[in-house]
Amino acid sequence: MKKLESREDIEHLVNSFYAKVVKDETISFFFNDVAKVDWDKHLPKMYSFWETILFGQMTYKGNPMAVHFPINEMKAMERKHFDQWLELWKLTIEENFVGENADMAIYKSENIAKLMAYKMEMARKI
Ligand code: HEM
Repeated sequence: MKKLESREDIEHLVNSFYAKVVKDETISFFFNDVAKVDWDKHLPKMYSFWETILFGQMTYKGNPMAVHFPINEMKAMERKHFDQWLELWKLTIEENFVGENADMAIYKSENIAKLMAYKMEMARKI
């Protein structure tokens, strides 16, 4: 099994992950129906996002939290959705990569997902 160490590796990881996401019973509707994602734009952003997190290459310049609030307003993003997102992310990593960066990609996603789930829940209470 391979280490996660290049932009090409991230592209492979992200592409494999979203291939699972778009077919997933629990969360695909957010991407396909709610946000109607433009994949040609979304995927390169995600490559840069993970490149920034894992390799410190500051190629991503966005606000990941902000993007999810309008989606959450259209359809509540709940814990079960984040759990499923994480499940697919972990599975995709474990199917393809080993090593420190692979572990870090899981660890960081858990922290971000936890914070995001909390923020989405709070936003629905206001
Ligand atoms: C239930 C869980 C989640 C759902 C349904 C979801 C859905 C989405 C959707 C629909 C977009 C917008 C795509 C577009 O129209 O351009 C998006 C963007 C994004 N998501 Fe998520 N997301 C989830 C969790 C996460 C998590 C846990 C992370 C980080 C670890 C994350 C990181 C991002 C980033 C970086 C973007 C791009 C933001 C930008 O445009 O700059 N998402 N997400």
